[in-house]
Amino acid sequence: MKIVVLGGSPKGENGLTHLYVRFLRARFPPHAWSVQDVSATITSWEIDESNFSECIDAVRDADGILWAFPVYFYLVPGQYKRFIELIFERGLEDTFRGRYAAVLTTSIRFFDHTAHNYLHAICDDLGLRYCGFHSAAMDDLLRENERERLLDFGQNFLSALERQIPTARTYPALSERVFHYQPGPASERVDTQDKRLVIVTDLENEESTLGGMIRRFREAFSAAPEVVNLRAVDIAGGCVGCVQCGYDNICVYRDGFRAMFTGKLQTADIIVFAGSIRDRYLSSLWKIFFDRSFFNNHVPAFAGKQFGFILSGPFAQLANLRQIFQAYTEIQQANPAGYVTDEFGDSAKLDALLQNLAAEVVRLDTAGSIRTPTYLSIGGKKLFRDVVWGQFRHVFPADHRHYQRHGLYDFPQNNYGMRLMNGILYPFTRSRAMRMKTIDKLQELRKKQMLEIIGE
Ligand SMILES: Cc1cc2nc3c(=O)[nH]c(=O)nc-3n(C[C@H](O)[C@H](O)[C@H](O)COP(=O)(O)O)c2cc1C
Repeated sequence: MKIVVLGGSPKGENGLTHLYVRFLRARFPPHAWSVQDVSATITSWEIDESNFSECIDAVRDADGILWAFPVYFYLVPGQYKRFIELIFERGLEDTFRGRYAAVLTTSIRFFDHTAHNYLHAICDDLGLRYCGFHSAAMDDLLRENERERLLDFGQNFLSALERQIPTARTYPALSERVFHYQPGPASERVDTQDKRLVIVTDLENEESTLGGMIRRFREAFSAAPEVVNLRAVDIAGGCVGCVQCGYDNICVYRDGFRAMFTGKLQTADIIVFAGSIRDRYLSSLWKIFFDRSFFNNHVPAFAGKQFGFILSGPFAQLANLRQIFQAYTEIQQANPAGYVTDEFGDSAKLDALLQNLAAEVVRLDTAGSIRTPTYLSIGGKKLFRDVVWGQFRHVFPADHRHYQRHGLYDFPQNNYGMRLMNGILYPFTRSRAMRMKTIDKLQELRKKQMLEIIGE
């Protein structure tokens, strides 16, 4: 069998993901494996067609495709996202259609599932026969049981190819409607109350629906919010994953990204993200924006701010993307003030929704509202806490200092009140009857306290 590996690490052969691929290649020698370092070389591919054609030829020649990449910011690296865009832009879907595919990632398993959902859906959109995934934690290759699991994954994939198993689409195709937004005049102006409000966008065409939405939204305020167009920012390239920033939060790139991020976004009270859906995410430029913000490492960059989202495209059909935005907002300790999309195909309704979003971002910021966290950020923060305390402490000392200073190492063993209570109560759990009595007593006590707070 011929397997083409589409390598997604910006570090190419020097990346960790590559070692997992090498392990599979070494364990399944009768098969012909070819590796295309997509993310490490995509920038030159855009200029020089020949390398891109070589990669597409390798896909054409292969029986199976292994998408192998590190999880970057809930998804694939921005460079890999660009490769996916190029496949659709250049109408190359036929090259992929009908081939078998599987996905292999390395990560700390923070939102690896949203990255996998995304790539599975892309496989479906390309007509690939998706056979499953393997999500490796960074050090898994050092553990025997995890090596077994990786082998199992490889075996299952190759066996699916050999047996030509039937597969079915999981993610329905997106249905997109054509809609020309005609913005109406703003009925009233929201007083910005001297708040700093910034719209970040990758807008390409002022005459597009997104352009109209941004214009109409800006008109809703007494003072038009500033627009930061990522296309006008000097961004030298995507994150290369060197983690030099782990020492002091300084990125190796010396371009305009950091000044834009810290000078314009971190000083704002309200940030509105405005973009168009491209495949099943925003554009690769947006992805590069999020990846490059990694210089903040595992520390929230936008605590206490209001976030709004203005989106053009089939967002309601992209539950995965909604979850990414929700998780991102929560992890940043910001508040999701609202999402407005153009999916309804109704200009008057869109006017009203944009006007309402304008009023909401100001109202919520004035009230200091931050919605309750959900599992997405509670789970995510615990994972960050554990890796920053453990395996990452020497890689991300800036994180470690921040976590120490802000009491973020809130492991249960530091909770002396809880330890004392458990020490007293735990012996009672030995007998079934005593255990039930203890639980009842505790619940009664808690209820009493709550009723006192309610005032009943
Ligand atoms: C910019 C950036 C973003 C990352 N985002 C995530 C993430 O969202 N979830 C996660 O589990 N790991 C994340 N990681 C960790 C990488 O996935 C992990 O280190 C991976 O093994 C790197 O593989 P490579 O050496 O092949 O590039 C991120 C790393 C970088 C540099």
